[in-house]
Amino acid sequence: MSYKELYEGWKTDPEGFWMQAAQAISWDKPPSKALFDDDAPYYEWFADARVNTCYNAVDRHVEEGRGEQTAIIYDSPITHTKREISYVELRNRVASLAGALRTKGVEKGDTVIIYMPMVPEALEAMLACARIGAVHSVVFGGFAANELAVRIDDAKPKAIIAASCGLEPNRVVHYKPLLDGAIELAEHKPEFCVIFQREQDVAQLVEGRDVNWHGFQYGVEPAECVPVEGNHPAYILYTSGTTGQPKGVVRHTAGQLVALNWTMKNIYNVDPGDVFWAASDVGWVVGHSYICYAPLIAGNTTIVFEGKPIGTPDAGTFWRVISEHKVKSFFTAPTAFRAVKREDPTGEFVKKYDLSNLGQVYLAGERADPDTILWAQEHLDVPVVDHWWQTETGWSIAANPLGIEELPTKLGSPAVPMPGYEVDILDEGGHPVANGELGAIAIKLPLPPGTLPGLWNAPERFQSSYLNAFPGYYETGDAGMKDDDGYLYIMARTDDVINVAGHRLSTGGMEEVLAGHPDVAECAVIGVTDQLKGQMPVGFLCLNANTTRDHSEVVSEVVKLVREKIGPVAAFKLAVVVDRLPKTRSGKILRGTMVHIADGTAYKAPATIDDPAILDEIKTALQTIGYAAE
Ligand code: COA
Ligand code: AMP
Repeated sequence: MSYKELYEGWKTDPEGFWMQAAQAISWDKPPSKALFDDDAPYYEWFADARVNTCYNAVDRHVEEGRGEQTAIIYDSPITHTKREISYVELRNRVASLAGALRTKGVEKGDTVIIYMPMVPEALEAMLACARIGAVHSVVFGGFAANELAVRIDDAKPKAIIAASCGLEPNRVVHYKPLLDGAIELAEHKPEFCVIFQREQDVAQLVEGRDVNWHGFQYGVEPAECVPVEGNHPAYILYTSGTTGQPKGVVRHTAGQLVALNWTMKNIYNVDPGDVFWAASDVGWVVGHSYICYAPLIAGNTTIVFEGKPIGTPDAGTFWRVISEHKVKSFFTAPTAFRAVKREDPTGEFVKKYDLSNLGQVYLAGERADPDTILWAQEHLDVPVVDHWWQTETGWSIAANPLGIEELPTKLGSPAVPMPGYEVDILDEGGHPVANGELGAIAIKLPLPPGTLPGLWNAPERFQSSYLNAFPGYYETGDAGMKDDDGYLYIMARTDDVINVAGHRLSTGGMEEVLAGHPDVAECAVIGVTDQLKGQMPVGFLCLNANTTRDHSEVVSEVVKLVREKIGPVAAFKLAVVVDRLPKTRSGKILRGTMVHIADGTAYKAPATIDDPAILDEIKTALQTIGYAAE
């Protein structure tokens, strides 16, 4: 079947398409239908089914005779450790952890926060929650205590499962003090915390609250899989929006199972038993969908990689892992390839390894620049697929579906919409624009299975963030265009979200932190173009009139403050003091114009600008930190 036939087939009969895809899932009670639209525009999929995610990701492979197959390969160049966990071993470990959680009172519908680095135990914690119907929320290890506290207050977890530390190449990240600090900051208190002690940092337990990962499982009855409703939340994953308050993206159980399973063959071109590797982190959506759930649901071997593309120990790490573990499909962020390419422009490291098992490479998380794709194509000699998706969608909106048909690659485009997604480019009035013209990218409702049905505890925000702008559509927050062949081009965000090294961050959230500094009267944060990370945040500070302090002192204090409040992952290192910010006459800060000035790209000051002279002041300030070249 061609892509065209597949897509048209879905469009003609979406119900039939998804019911057929659903046959690959082992149901406790099969769904009577796919789409539940009584409450439109709030849609649900397979809502009346009963099913368990962990059963589908783990137990059924054991029952089908593949218990000895490796489920997880842990490869940690940071700790010089390699370990393989078979499906049967994974089942036993997860059942034991789930049993211990249940014994401590965690039940179906309870929320559990997981704060862990790239170790297999992070996946085991996710699967243990799924096994008993608990709703997990994984928090990325690069976030500071304050961000963890915000998530604790929103998700209100009964328990928190954390590791004692994470390991960055240059330092041990002590999670336990961050966890303790977050619990102190939060209004909601978990009933207990499970601490996975790592040998690099054995943390002090809080008596009466903390239990040891191993100790609390001792002698406990393993838990069986608890069937849940198709629309039972599988997890909450917080992501950046316009403000400092993150959005809790909800994922439903059945839709995720059906959609993710469908993607593994059709998009990622792998069969059960093949090795699939997503070099991301469990704290991001890529980690949820493609380190943990999808490869396991589809019976693949997944890799948990604790390392970086460079420096652990060198720019050949990716190729070493691919070669050693016979990876068939590899997924990473363009920024990771840019880091490798910078150290190894001629691909010398690539030549050292046998990559004959590698079939294809996938890039997502940010725009894939043509140079990076060309470099990967040349040195790896396999199809390199740019595909576009978001935390909200959980799987790709647009891709080149290699398992169906390899479509021609067009540099700068993540190719074509996947079944389930009808993508339109709209003008401000919500009317589709002509091919080749820029507009807001919107997806016709309903979104397909596996995408977000709503935001945790925030129905109004769900409505205002995604549904209000274009009735009948989901607003992606991305702008771009479509060409005559239906290929999409994703050019920029339409909101205050920036993408730094494939990490989604809110400039609004950073502004809230800067505004909290006692000497800052007003501020703005923009994302400037960065050769390695795609974008980097830059802050502009207007100080209080009575401040006599040295500007560089205030700058280093705000840099420290963002690291403390949001975390190192914000990569906020640059700020400048200015007298005034450029604004429209109605007071809107001209962030877009400031980005053009910083990047040295052409711009036209808007007619509504209050005082154009301020733009020159901004340019001069940016030149002091190496931006806004003539
Ligand atoms: N825990 C704690 N700190 C973390 C962290 C984690 N899980 N991940 C990153 N950080 C820290 C880094 O140590 C760094 O700290 P520093 O300021 O003390 O150096 C800071 O956050 C910024 O990290 P990052 O932006 O990742 O920069 P980097 O220079 O460490 O690495 C890359 C650059 C490109 C190599 C790296 O970002 C990378 O591998 N990116 C791929 C991203 C990815 O997989 N994204 C997921 C979407 S698919
Ligand atoms: P996240 O929710 O962290 O996955 O980030 C989603 C955002 O990253 C999207 O809305 C886009 O802005 C950007 N993005 C992800 N993949 C791509 C891609 N292939 N091309 C362009 N932008 C992308």
